[in-house]
Amino acid sequence: MATLIVFEGIDGSGKTTQGKLLSENLKSLGLKVQLSSEPTDGPVGTLIKQKILREGSISLPLSNALLFAADRALHLKDINLTEKNFIYILDRYFYSSLAYQGACGVPLSYIEFINSFAPKPDLVFLLDIDPAIGLSRLKQFDKFENLSYLNKVRKLYLYLANKYNMIVFDATEKSEVLAKKIFDVVKKKLGINCK
Ligand code: TYD
Repeated sequence: MATLIVFEGIDGSGKTTQGKLLSENLKSLGLKVQLSSEPTDGPVGTLIKQKILREGSISLPLSNALLFAADRALHLKDINLTEKNFIYILDRYFYSSLAYQGACGVPLSYIEFINSFAPKPDLVFLLDIDPAIGLSRLKQFDKFENLSYLNKVRKLYLYLANKYNMIVFDATEKSEVLAKKIFDVVKKKLGINCK
């Protein structure tokens, strides 16, 4: 079976950087890795990026939750969990919908329901950061990035971390230090003992 590893966190938490570093580290061990992110560059993901994130011209939390779930269903077509010795790294997954659309008032049980097609990952890393620090690291802001909203999203993420057994790391740590800690957890999970 393939291994599914997810990175979650608010904007500016460095999950994209950590996803890339983990991918490089695993490849250096000769493993097969595919790194992808949500929203995707597929038809629904492209619509989301333009209409929800850039223009804000679709702004109903319920329809956002449904669109992100539709994009995820298409994303999962590219993921074959029966493949042996393959590692999929996802930069955001259904936990993002729970945290972001949940923070807009869509009931968590409903978001869980519309994402029930999505397989549970083997590992979920939550990179936790104060939104004020996270935002200061970003070059560009989109529609979902304002401080009070992101504080709500962060709180929900920490609640979800407990519920879904996520591994929480302090995202203010130096990225190389954090990358090593993450790599160590993944190696342990994969049963790899080499240094
Ligand atoms: P992000 O990872 O920040 O992409 P980029 O680094 O290219 O800006 O994701 C884009 C935004 O989409 C982010 O603010 C969180 C939001 N989002 C949701 O609200 N729900 C979801 O289910 C997903 C996957 C993302």
